[in-house]
Amino acid sequence: MEKQTADFIIENIGELVTCAGPAEGRRGDALQKLEIITDGAVAVTNGLISGVGSSREIAASFDGANRIDAAGRLVTPGLVDPHSHLVYSGSRHDEWESKVTGRAAAAGLQGGIHRSVGWTRAASNEAMTSQALGDLDEMAAHGTTTLEAKTGYGLERETELRLLRLTAGLDHPIDIIPTFLGAHVPPPEYLDDTDAYVDLVIEMLPEAAELAEYCDVCCDPIGFTRAQCRRIGERAKELGLGIRVHSDQTGDAEGGLLAAELNAASADHADYTTDEGFRAMAEAGTAAILFPGVTYHMLEMTPALDGDTLVPAEKPFMPQVARRAVNAGCIVALSTDYNPGSCPTLSMQAAMQTAARLYRLGYAEIWHMSTLNAAASLGRGRDRGSLEPGKRADIVIWRVPEHGMVIHRFGTNLVDDVFIKGQKVVSNGRRQVAKSK
Ligand code: NIG
Ligand code: FE
Repeated sequence: MEKQTADFIIENIGELVTCAGPAEGRRGDALQKLEIITDGAVAVTNGLISGVGSSREIAASFDGANRIDAAGRLVTPGLVDPHSHLVYSGSRHDEWESKVTGRAAAAGLQGGIHRSVGWTRAASNEAMTSQALGDLDEMAAHGTTTLEAKTGYGLERETELRLLRLTAGLDHPIDIIPTFLGAHVPPPEYLDDTDAYVDLVIEMLPEAAELAEYCDVCCDPIGFTRAQCRRIGERAKELGLGIRVHSDQTGDAEGGLLAAELNAASADHADYTTDEGFRAMAEAGTAAILFPGVTYHMLEMTPALDGDTLVPAEKPFMPQVARRAVNAGCIVALSTDYNPGSCPTLSMQAAMQTAARLYRLGYAEIWHMSTLNAAASLGRGRDRGSLEPGKRADIVIWRVPEHGMVIHRFGTNLVDDVFIKGQKVVSNGRRQVAKSK
């Protein structure tokens, strides 16, 4: 039999975790069936995966390739982070300490977002681009190969569109999927007339649709009502945008139901989404994207101290939310929700590790939710999210031999090498200097 040619082969892989599954993502019990090839190998040709199997099978089928010796390490698909607020300005670490200690009144979520809006409106393009590129380097170094990036800190026409243009201009190997979130929260100028701001968002949509793939709406007590979000979502769909929803983060605003009604790609947060909402999402194929990093960072499962008195946690029920979403048959994915307020982490590893600790999800579930299902939630399940022939060669070589170790450990970066479309972009946990798209 004639051998195929490959540009390179990664061989001698301790555990080759393919995360293979249907392009629409895995649901229910199927989340627990992780495909693992021991002593595996992957062949890469023209930026795509050309072969996956045992080292012996790949050696028998492929020729003339550069060989990368994984030396028994773990190899997985690149991590897909399906929700971030990448481009913004300013740090909110000061208000967070007030929340932690309770010693000073902390800005609420909406007030905090307004602070970021003020800094973002005033920031230069150069400063925000430079910060975003640094953040992307850090994400790649932690294993992220595809990222959804949304606006939401402009909340006025000029700045929202500027953020979309800056996102489009980011020259980085991570594949960035842009989302317009003009309807994040009502801006300070429109707190007394939120309908007028919804009108303004709808006016921004035609220009936003030139630059974004998705439109996100925040259907939440601190954001907009179901009816307001429906108006924006329906117009966005007419313009060809896919829909994503910040749903039910601070209370039940029927965000899950709205997302299903709009056939949204995803409903994200879902803390207060009802079983009816999850069932509707499962039926509509709307993914539930969960943010364990938000739950952790916002101390929502942590009791507080008022003097010597223990104040019960705001959301001790969060493990049930993850399990209810799985049991309802939703396509569940994990994400950082990277942003300056509710979750300032760039690391999908941190999200995965926190998901086990707070949501009590198992290793196989977490790997599927951070790769295949996250890709499916972005409409990318056909070309990435798993290591299967024909998909993009977005690959991570880890410093440890087994997939469970990535989740069991925490607090250090366990990535060795990252390939995006077959190009090595991270070496020994560090972003390579030469940038290539
Ligand atoms: O977690 N409704 C939006 N909530 C944001 C918070 C962002 C922030 O605090 O700046 C979110 O996605
Ligand atoms: Fe968010």
